[in-house]
Amino acid sequence: LRWFLGRPKNLPPGPWGFPLIGSVLAIGREIRRGVEPHDLFMRYAAKYGPVFRLKIFNKTVVVLNDYSSVKEAFQHPQLQDRPKMLLTKVLKSDGVSIASGQPWLELRRFSLTVLRSFGVGKTSFEEKIGTEAEELMKEMSAFSGKPFDPKPLLGNAVSNVICNVVFGKRYEYTDEQFNKLLSLLGRNFKLLGAGAAVNFFPALRYLPFVSIDEIIANFEEIRMFITTIIDNHRANFDADDVKDFTDSFLMEIKRNEAKDASGVKHGLLSEGNLVGTVTALFAAGSETTATTLQWTLLYMAVYPEIQQRVQAEIDAVVGRNRLPRMADKPELNFTRAVIWEVQRLSLIVPLGVAHAAAADTQFRGFLIPKDTLLVPNLWAVTHDPKVWPEPDQFKPERFLNDKGEAVQAEELIPFSVGRRSCIGEHLAKMELFIFFSFFLHQFTFKKPDNSPPLSLKGRGGLNYSPFNFEICVISRE
Ligand code: HEM
Repeated sequence: LRWFLGRPKNLPPGPWGFPLIGSVLAIGREIRRGVEPHDLFMRYAAKYGPVFRLKIFNKTVVVLNDYSSVKEAFQHPQLQDRPKMLLTKVLKSDGVSIASGQPWLELRRFSLTVLRSFGVGKTSFEEKIGTEAEELMKEMSAFSGKPFDPKPLLGNAVSNVICNVVFGKRYEYTDEQFNKLLSLLGRNFKLLGAGAAVNFFPALRYLPFVSIDEIIANFEEIRMFITTIIDNHRANFDADDVKDFTDSFLMEIKRNEAKDASGVKHGLLSEGNLVGTVTALFAAGSETTATTLQWTLLYMAVYPEIQQRVQAEIDAVVGRNRLPRMADKPELNFTRAVIWEVQRLSLIVPLGVAHAAAADTQFRGFLIPKDTLLVPNLWAVTHDPKVWPEPDQFKPERFLNDKGEAVQAEELIPFSVGRRSCIGEHLAKMELFIFFSFFLHQFTFKKPDNSPPLSLKGRGGLNYSPFNFEICVISRE
């Protein structure tokens, strides 16, 4: 009705859109010309202010473009839903990352508690990550300094860390089925750039230039793989020996069923969101961290003098006789600053993950109507020149104070902020530190001789990742 009556007066400002389709053509034209959506939105923000509105078909989208607006919106209890998505419907499963309302709260609480109970986020977990990092380094050494594409190995290693917790197992780097699965996942993260629009605006599906069929087929294959693992867990389930996240979830479902029999209200955890949650942890826990590590290697090869400074710091603090540990982290100031600066500059989820308004909400004097999509432009936050002078320059020193100590900046939010921020943040930070510090303790990364310069320009999608590249890993011993 609101749509027929015209838009309410106090929506945030934004570009004019055609009746029925809104700004679809204008945005589509820019994207086809190669403009990344986060850059386009920064342009709109310069014109309309940090909180602006777009109309995409009959849906209102509000884009948040600076730290204070993202932080404020993502703390608001009514702005924590996820938009209804085509993929949820097609895949017939919900899970922690796509659920809304009370089921989401319950799934999130449960997931965090169980991840913690298996050590995630605690210092004791460093051993598991370290063991995987050592396996990975053996594989890297096997190339004996010859160029190779590090992406598949990094993906496999990082994925093993989360698989260990969620499924209780790791996969050999030679496992073809697992490698295929990871490449399908990577492909979907890319396709979800254009596909994300279809995901939220199913009408786009019928336009000839957009295809969501491949995304669905890939997710189906991933889901089959995960369903088989869950079936195995179910067949071998032992309530006295709960080994991993999947077992814990099955246990909780059984507990809920038992309560039901005695007449107590049924809990919200169900088989449907077991598949969805396990898939979410696997998907979110693999591609993101592996892509960040890819970026760190690239930056080190492109900035050899910074690489040397990190190596010198690690050698001074850790020495050459053992590998770095979490306990060394507070003293590895420059190393931490480098990781932060890579995360800031090559922010891997440029438009975050959209939220939706659960009800009409007043925000900064504007009306955010129910079901409005809220898109955090995290890229704009970490490239805001008011916060980061020369935002496009790689300058790890920006995170060091006068005494050379690393100082975390509140505005560095690669994991988003607020009530729905990434649940893997502690795990990811630990992984990034361990993998990166191990690498630089043992190796020097170099551009292959006679190859064109390595590019620090990435490409979008759901994640912002480097173009395929090859690198040489030289042992420091
Ligand atoms: C959500 C970033 C690693 C699991 C998110 C969100 C972002 C993000 C931006 C959206 C938050 C929001 O809706 O406002 C990252 C980055 C990572 C990373 C940059 C690595 C560098 C991980 C890992 C896990 C994980 C290792 C595995 C435990 C999740 C889950 C959600 C999420 C389950 C959905 C949370 C919810 O909807 O309540 N992540 N993430 N992430 N992440 Fe991560």
